Formats: sequence, structure tokens, C-alpha cells
Amino acid sequence: MNASTSHTDYRQLHQRSITDREGFWLETAAELDWDSSPTAAVDASNAPLYRWFPDGQLNLCHNALDRHIAAGRGDCTALIYDSAVTEGSRSYTYAELRDEVATAAGALAGLGVSPGDRVLLYLPMIPQAVIAMLACARLGAVHSVVFGGFAAKEIAARIDDAAPDTVITATGGIEPTRRIEYLPKVAEAVQLAQHGVRDVVVVDREGFETSLDSAAATTSATSPAVQWHDWHQLTTQAEPADPVTVDATHPLYILYTSGTTGKPKGVVRDQGGTAAALQWTMPSIFDVGPDEVILCASDVGWVVGHSYIVYAPLLAGATSVLYEGKPVGTPDAGAFWRMVEQHKIKSLFTAPTALRAIRKADPEASLVADYDISSLQYLFSAGERLDPETQRWIGQALDVPVIDNWWQTETGWPIAANPVGIQQLPVKEGSATLPMVGYEVEVLDPMGEPLPAGQEGNIAIKLPLPPGTLHSLWGDDDRYVDAYLSAFEGYYTTGDSGYIDQDGYIYVMGRTDDVINVSGHRLSTGEIEAAVAEHPAVAECAVIGLADELKGQRPAGFLVLKSGAEIDHQRLREELVAHVRATIGPVADFKEVSVVEALPKTRSGKILRKTMRQIADGQDYTVPSTIEDPAVIDALLPVLRGSAGAK
Ligand code: COA
Ligand code: AMP
Repeated sequence: MNASTSHTDYRQLHQRSITDREGFWLETAAELDWDSSPTAAVDASNAPLYRWFPDGQLNLCHNALDRHIAAGRGDCTALIYDSAVTEGSRSYTYAELRDEVATAAGALAGLGVSPGDRVLLYLPMIPQAVIAMLACARLGAVHSVVFGGFAAKEIAARIDDAAPDTVITATGGIEPTRRIEYLPKVAEAVQLAQHGVRDVVVVDREGFETSLDSAAATTSATSPAVQWHDWHQLTTQAEPADPVTVDATHPLYILYTSGTTGKPKGVVRDQGGTAAALQWTMPSIFDVGPDEVILCASDVGWVVGHSYIVYAPLLAGATSVLYEGKPVGTPDAGAFWRMVEQHKIKSLFTAPTALRAIRKADPEASLVADYDISSLQYLFSAGERLDPETQRWIGQALDVPVIDNWWQTETGWPIAANPVGIQQLPVKEGSATLPMVGYEVEVLDPMGEPLPAGQEGNIAIKLPLPPGTLHSLWGDDDRYVDAYLSAFEGYYTTGDSGYIDQDGYIYVMGRTDDVINVSGHRLSTGEIEAAVAEHPAVAECAVIGLADELKGQRPAGFLVLKSGAEIDHQRLREELVAHVRATIGPVADFKEVSVVEALPKTRSGKILRKTMRQIADGQDYTVPSTIEDPAVIDALLPVLRGSAGAK
């Protein structure tokens, strides 16, 4: 437990983190190795843009690996790779992982990667994903991981925004029912992008059809400057690289997330703030310290994976399990419990949708009894609201506290949680518990006035946000200010709606914008709409997120055909589903399409998506007085009510 967690009253600790921000965070940061220790915590000179530890210098990778080795813990286990889809596994001690990372960093440096250069990673859940992330951090290069469920066009959009010279990928990823060939997607993305990629490094996995050579042949005609390299060859020949000292404010990574518009937002985080904040969270929120084991069953392509598969466990000197598989079907709904027994997992972190999938496959949780899960002390859940029924069910099945925590790609670590490592607070169903240190959370009305306890409104966070959160959007401070800081002066707008009760517990109820949450994956309905609208038969469309028992939400498209367009509706549906898969990726999970006569709109032409969603979900709804033609809603009622029951 670090210095700042020696308090036992969490509310007092939180209060101190607000009233003595400098003292609290400088003390927390002092737990790290600094090449030049910070003398100030927050730099407000460019408010509303804030920077953390402005005069500090360090290297995060050194703090995640070398620091523990120097303290005599080189033989402790850092990473356990557990692949249910290949039945492979491998453990890395801190010394082994550091050596692999140093060599990978040397290989990247050999390709010309320097501090500040961007490196795009498109990798499945294999150790090289963790190694590549840490190798970038070691060099002061900025990684941007793209989730494997995204298609070539999405990769290309990220290449154009982040402008990486180097891409690291693998021959493929493995889904329970099929192998996903990565190289055709990467080759297509490299060709689609305006920005010219210089090097593509490929981790060769067994069992994939497209080889490095054939991918290289594909790009040689259109993008002759691209060089393709084999990861194994490159790292075998490389000299290990030492950590590069960087400013604490130096960018660590860019992670793209869905916003309301089609263009993803490049959330950017720094090395020093991330190291200080994540190191605090691991023991304090997740009660995981040196030699203790955490399984975060997310993906390195998502923020939860960045923070709790890679950076936080290693900063804390703990053991992280990297799981390549699903909660169900690889081979069954006992996969998590098998790993708890095998790896002696103390804290398990997953998403409600995974728990619901387990419940669907094993309603009595009978598979739990097949394993010794006595090491398990907590189950943590994030990514979407933890519904009380699922919380109760899994709590009874495992007989451990089930702890919800609320955060966003933007914040990088929980805004609200139950700090069980400091003081376990009573769990209230439906609530993510209290704001974490450094977060001053308020609920505001549309005019920006704070609302009293119990009243729902916009959840906002008083500036400055704590360290480890985003400091901007990549290369676009104006968009950052516009999207997050301008709605309510002095606050960061979360885009979530909810309320705070008399005890200060936070209840997050849903988004206030067009972002939807499908299986814990954040998607933009606007982006799906843009893909649907590309079909030549479609005049206009609305995509809304409908409540879904398993996935939380699922996207459903309602579209109007161009006059005279004659197309079989089943064929249209198939074409649209295929098109969304090809442009955004299977992760969009777009499978429902209804052709309608007209879409309900206001007189100014705004589609009434919220009203449509309320009707489809069987909620009370109000039709705004500004509606252009009330008859359109009446005509839509049977279609909308039908889609609610469709799944
Ligand atoms: N690469 C390629 N395709 C992928 C992929 C990847 N990494 N991940 C998912 N997909 C595909 C799936 O195969 C599926 O394709 P399909 O339409 O052909 O079946 C599609 O994308 C939708 O995937 P998903 O929404 O994940 O549904 P699923 O039925 O495959 O799995 C769950 C359902 C609940 C098991 C799974 O979504 C899950 O484990 N969710 C937890 C998410 C999570 O932890 N999020 C982190 C936030 S904390
Ligand atoms: P992402 O950026 O993908 O992590 O998604 C962030 C969004 O997911 C938040 O803005 C919320 O809408 C939702 N979310 C994440 N965790 C929770 C939670 N514990 N409770 C409610 N909503 C959540």
C-alpha cells in the first residue's frame, strides 16, 4: 500500500485530494522513480488545458519493469499469457519481460522510431501486444492500439490522424468460430491512408493464410515505400534499448474512441500522470499489490485493457493475466473460473455483458463448483452499467463482493469506484459508489447549475481532471475544448447522465449523446449511419441503440429508400450488414434493418432518435411539440415496438 493509502477513511482522503491537490499528487508521484523529480503537480497556466508534473522527467517503462528488477524482484511473475483459443500459455518474469521489451525497443529504434514518433499497433491478445506497447513507452514513442474487430477503413482513419511511420501487427487473431486474417486488412489500410506508412512489422502466427510476403506484394505496386518486416527476425537481430528519459508531460499513447460524429477522437495521455495515477489505483481500487494476480478480461484495444492488463499491474509490481479467449465458448462458461484456480487470481475485472453471457450459458453457475476459486477476493465490473440482477446473480455464485466502477476512455481510470484497498464501502446496487481521488463530480442541469441529491442530470467533473486522464485530443486542442469543456464552464462534460444520492453515491444511467454501448464496446450511431447512407438505395436513415438483454444495447437501423429504388428488403439488409462490417468492422454488431416510409423529424429537420428509442424500448415517451408531422410517429409505432421484441 502506498503512502497516500495509509488513511483509512476514504472520504477524508478524497477531500484531501481536492483541497491539497499539490500535496496529494506529489506524494503519490514520489512512489515512482524519477530522473528529475517534479516540484509542482498541476500546471494551470494554460487553463482550461492542464498538464501534470510539468517539470518532472521519467520513463514509464522503467517504472513498470526495470524499477522492480532493481528492487530485487526480477524473478517475480509479471505476465501470464493464457490462450484458450490456441491452448497455449507462457509466463514472463519481470526480468524476462524487460529483456523482451528492451530488445523490441531496440528493433524499433533500428527502424528509426524516435521519441514522439507514433506507432500503430493492430494486434490480437498475444504477449507481443504488451511487449510492443511497453517498447514504445521505453523509447518515448507514442503507441496507438486499434482493436482487432475494426475494419481496414477504420485503421486507415487512425493512420491518417496519428500519422505513424510504423505499424506493428500479426498474421491474425482467433475468434471462437473463425480466424481473422489481419494482413489483408493492414495492407488495405496502408493503401487507403493518405499518410505514408514506412514500416510494417508482422508477428507470424501459425495457421493464417496471408503471409508477410503476399501482403508485401499487395502493397508493392501502390505503396512501394512500405517495407514489411518479420517481428521475430527483427527482434533476434536487435540490441536491447535502455529507457529514454522523457518529460512527464510527454505523450504515452493515443487511443481512438467513438464520439457523436463519424470521426473518432484521439484521446491522448502522458507518461508521468498515467504512471502516478495508475500506480495509485492498483492497490487502492483493485486491492492488487506486488505478487498478487489480476485478470482483466478486456482487450488491449480498449482503455480498460491499456490500464489494467498492461500498465497498472506492472507499475504495481503485480502479475497480470493476458487472456486470449472469450468468457463463454472457449471452451465453456467456466473459462474465468478455470483461470482463477490455475493462476490463483485475486481480482477479476470484466464487463457486465460478459457476466450476462456466462449466466445465459450456465444459468445455475454450476461450472463454478468445478474449480477451486478460493483465491478470488473481488469481482470488478466496468464498461457499462452493472444491472442489479446480474450483480446479485454473480455475487451469489462466487461469494465475493461485486464492485462496479465507472469510467471512460477519456479518463483512463475509474471516475467512481469502491476503493476496497483502502476502505470497503457498502455496495449499493446500481451505483458505481464514490468519486475517486482528484475527481470532483457534480450533476448539472442544462444551464450548468448543480442539481440537488437524487435529481438526474448531466454528470460533469470540475477541472482540473486528475493525472492520468486525457490532456487533449491528438493534435486538436480546439476539438477537445469544444467537445468536452465548452458546455459548462470550468467542467469536463462526461456525456453521461445520472444522479448522486444523499451519501454521495454516483448512479450513471446512460449517455446524453448518440454514443451507444454494445457488449461493453463504445460505438457511434452517427458512424454507423454514415456507412448505411453510402448504400445507393438509401435516402436517409437513423441508427439507434435498443436495449438488449445480453449486450446492453444493440444498434438498429431505420431507413427510407430513395424514391423509385426497387430492391428486395432481405437483400438490402444483407448488403447493409456486409457493408457496415466491411467499413467499420464486425465489432459494430449491426444486424437489424427496417425499411420505413418516413423518419420522424422536428420542423428544423432533426431526426427524433431519442423518441424512437424510447418507443422501441417500451419506455414513456413524449413527442416534442416541434415535430414536423405527428402521423409519421403513429405509422412507425408497430415497427419500433416490433424491433424491441425482435431479439
Ligand atoms: N477481432 C475480430 N472480430 C471480433 C473481435 C476481434 N478482436 N472481437 C469481436 N469480434 C467480432 C465477433 O466475432 C462478432 O462477430 P460476428 O458478428 O461474426 O459474430 C462481432 O465482432 C461482435 O462481437 P461481440 O459484440 O464481442 O459479440 P460476441 O457474441 O462475439 O461476444 C461477449 C459476446 C459478451 C462474449 C463479448 O462481447 C465480450 O466478452 N464482451 C466483453 C467486452 C469487454 O470486456 N469490454 C471491455 C470494456 S470493460
Ligand atoms: P468507454 O470509453 O468505451 O470506456 O465507454 C465509456 C462509457 O461507458 C461511459 O461514458 C458510460 O456511458 C459507459 N460506462 C462505463 N462504465 C460504466 C459503469 N460502470 N456504469 C455505467 N456506465 C458505464
